[in-house]
Amino acid sequence: MESYLIEWSTLLLRWLHLIVGIAWIGSSFYFVWLDNSLRAPQDEAMKKKGVAGELWAVHGGGFYNPQKYLVAPEKLPDDLHWFKWESYSTWLSGFALLTVLYYTQAASYMVDPAKLALSPAASVGIGIGTLALGWIVYDLLCRLLIERSQLLFAGIFYAFLVMASFVLDQLLSGRAVFLHVGAMIATIMSANVFFWIIPGQKKTIAQMQRGEAPDPIHGKRAKQRSVHNNYLTLPVLFCMISNHYSFTYSHPHAWAVLSLILLSAALIRHFFNQRHKGQQQWRYPAAGIVILAVVAAWLRPAGVATATATAAPAVTTEAVQAVLAQRCAGCHAEHPTLVGAAPAGLMLDTAARIEQHKARIVQQAVHLRAMPPGNVTHITDEERATLARWGNQ
Ligand code: HEC
Repeated sequence: MESYLIEWSTLLLRWLHLIVGIAWIGSSFYFVWLDNSLRAPQDEAMKKKGVAGELWAVHGGGFYNPQKYLVAPEKLPDDLHWFKWESYSTWLSGFALLTVLYYTQAASYMVDPAKLALSPAASVGIGIGTLALGWIVYDLLCRLLIERSQLLFAGIFYAFLVMASFVLDQLLSGRAVFLHVGAMIATIMSANVFFWIIPGQKKTIAQMQRGEAPDPIHGKRAKQRSVHNNYLTLPVLFCMISNHYSFTYSHPHAWAVLSLILLSAALIRHFFNQRHKGQQQWRYPAAGIVILAVVAAWLRPAGVATATATAAPAVTTEAVQAVLAQRCAGCHAEHPTLVGAAPAGLMLDTAARIEQHKARIVQQAVHLRAMPPGNVTHITDEERATLARWGNQ
């Protein structure tokens, strides 16, 4: 019953998280696109009012003409729209999901005994500490470098992400590493909104209400951080979906896989941002795609040694069934004992089902070595070899 309730709460939280995440990332894409697409106004009266850029768009049967005032308009409008709950609700629902899924089941999701025999509590401490540390380092780097060089900042911040992935990869299970690097980046993005973008906007408005000329520095800083957020969207989204692709996070050098994919995601985002400014620089997405192709070639499953496989006696279904009953059926069965319901709806508890799913079993347990997750049920190399021989029959 308890695991059934956990299933429901993760379903609802994941659904909510997706909905609010779409709202947040959607508005991030929209506003950065808008900003990059603005052109200086032709109309003199408009220039006098302080409009620095405008554009025309058609959508949903109507014409839109957004105008951007640099620093601020002369008079505060009565009805001003803010964008902050998209970000806060994405972070809150994400953290709730992380807690229900990973922190309450830390022994199976966070800990990988083959790397380090951490207690579940220690693994959760590392997870939460990572989120906080990520923000502290990012914010410090921003304060030190952002005025000097964006490129230097980006290089050092990327090096920090690689280092964080490497260190986490020594401590936690592969899926927890990917998810925490993603959650760390997402925390930085939300903290940017909470600690810089919204307070900066509030200061601008307070100055205007006092009848002072608003200081442009608040707008400038908010803009820089909001551009950073935009570059981080694709990397975060990859981290979040990576958990469904065990061949990525269960690789022996998972940290390097992650680092390369994050880099390619930021390069691809850069292309779109440049393109909206009217510059098509194909070398960026080309580099991103080459990196993905290199990763794909690197992770390809090793061919199973067929020479020894043919020499050995045939493996019977009973022998396979015995291995799976011991190592897999705790999760993949009609009535599993380790989880509430068979993951991915996959049951490996009868000879017929095992034959039906032969290719997937061999793929996950032999080629990718992704199953059992974190090898919780201690499958041996001989048993994997048995499955490999069966796969080749
Ligand atoms: C501790 C529970 C657990 C054990 C034990 C386990 N699995 Fe899984 N398995 C999972 C989970 C969770 C997923 C779903 C992964 C996802 O969707 O991200 C899964 C998914 C799968 C999939 C589906 C992947 C796909 O999409 O095609 C296969 C195949 C699989 N497991 C095979 C096995 C085999 C073979 C064993 C035993 C050698 C095994 N599993 C042991 C938890 C387990």
